[in-house]
Amino acid sequence: MSVLVINLYFPGGFWDFTSDLTYKDTAYTSEALDPHTDNTYFSDPARLQLFHLLSHTDGDGGETLLVDGFYAAFRMLQENPRNVQALTDFPQPWHSSGNEDVSIQPYRHFPVLERDPKSSRLRRVRWNNYDRAAKVDWEYNMATAWYKAARHWNALLKRQDQMQKWLQLEPGTALIFDNWRMLHGRSAFTGKRRMCGGYINNDDFVSRYRLLINGREKTLNELGTPASRLSI
Ligand SMILES: [Fe+2]
Repeated sequence: MSVLVINLYFPGGFWDFTSDLTYKDTAYTSEALDPHTDNTYFSDPARLQLFHLLSHTDGDGGETLLVDGFYAAFRMLQENPRNVQALTDFPQPWHSSGNEDVSIQPYRHFPVLERDPKSSRLRRVRWNNYDRAAKVDWEYNMATAWYKAARHWNALLKRQDQMQKWLQLEPGTALIFDNWRMLHGRSAFTGKRRMCGGYINNDDFVSRYRLLINGREKTLNELGTPASRLSI
């Protein structure tokens, strides 16, 4: 499972929220949230996600849920390969339109499972039922195949023993994970809970990773060569 607990500099800035519905987004409530990835409505969803619980008083609950989306896709491939194909082949309309002044939508529809066009390896999972609009421009057999696959996918993510990792965050411990692979959720909570966190995009993350692993000289010498194509 790709879970890191490390200290990183986050150039993308921090968010900080309580359950006050500042934004018309389910994250800003105290309700339970099913496993999902963030930023499904962006053309380029954040790669790294940071969670840090600052305080939780006068209540309980709010455990954090993690599910490895790559493992879920692997299990689905074993159980029904056609369902993997449906989630790969039929792109969906994602959006964020909760507040009056925005309707964020990616520049094109994206599938739940995105493969690398060269290697065909799974590169990114995009799944949030709260952010998915109804797709209308498709044929009956495509819709039937996709919704059958989506039911299977949703059921897989909810298999507590096989798929889910629950943990209770505590002040002082930061959790960082790969938002292109790991889905997250939480249980409902009571009381006053304050969280902060941050996003960092793929290119900034991989830039830092390359320079830390290879150093600047090797990184620049490898530009344009097969060695520059990192598979992370
Ligand atoms: Fe989220």
